Amino acid sequence: MNYRREDIEALVRAVVTETLGGAGLPPAEKRQPKRLLAANWKMNLLATDARRFAAELSAAPPGVEVLLCPPHILLPVVREALGTRRDVSLGAQNFHPEPRGAFTGEHSAEQLRDAGASFVIVGHSERRALFAETDLVVGTKLARALRENLRPILCVGETLSQRRDGATFRVLRTQLDVALAALPAPAPEPALLCVAYEPVWAIGTGLNATAAQAQEAAAFLRERLGERFGHAAARRVRILYGGSVTPENAAALAACPDVDGFLVGTASLSREKFEALGRTLSAAAGGGDR
Ligand code: PGA
Repeated sequence: MNYRREDIEALVRAVVTETLGGAGLPPAEKRQPKRLLAANWKMNLLATDARRFAAELSAAPPGVEVLLCPPHILLPVVREALGTRRDVSLGAQNFHPEPRGAFTGEHSAEQLRDAGASFVIVGHSERRALFAETDLVVGTKLARALRENLRPILCVGETLSQRRDGATFRVLRTQLDVALAALPAPAPEPALLCVAYEPVWAIGTGLNATAAQAQEAAAFLRERLGERFGHAAARRVRILYGGSVTPENAAALAACPDVDGFLVGTASLSREKFEALGRTLSAAAGGGDR
């Protein structure tokens, strides 16, 4: 019996959507994902500021998906302020991989989805350094996030001393490989996965990676992803750059062929700066989907 390609794709999409809830396969014509502009507000802002930011945030520019990752307690506030708009997604900054139980002070994936999150940041360097998250813990969270219908943004990056010692690519390889090793077969739909290259020395320091450094690291990560998932699939994984991104340095970073977006801390606390970063990404994307 002959099946048409569109029918098979529609069937696969329906099954994946059913399995993954809102995080299902994007429609076929959107397979090349948009650039992602993600705000990591960290432990900043109160409800009033968060509400105003979301209410006044201008529409996501063409070719760009906008994501806000507020502190967990502000997720419902921001969701309410966004109302029915669909151009801005919400994400969590962390989660506990167990589904429920005696984990004082933690939040499960299901609770975060219930509060409006569809993405989650996994393995941010502050979690690794300040909360002792090992590569293995990060891998567990990556696998669990996908299983629990949260789209993970896996953060990797070297410290300054590791860069000075020439260990950058060894560190990136280990962090990526250990995390990916935790994923069960079959491989996830690559468009559901984001990897953020965040050199630790650039985070919150005002000292961004150069475009050449960002491109070199992003290309390295894409090559490793290609070895794991196949090179065509690796092109659909969004690779972000994060670390002191500002409207001033964004154009050069956005022009890197392997940089598909930004994960932004400090500059995301200013709506004007955040919107400017969106316009820069949109211009780099040619004002539309790639
Ligand atoms: P930054 O933070 O933009 O303030 O450097 C980035 C991040 O931690 O994701």
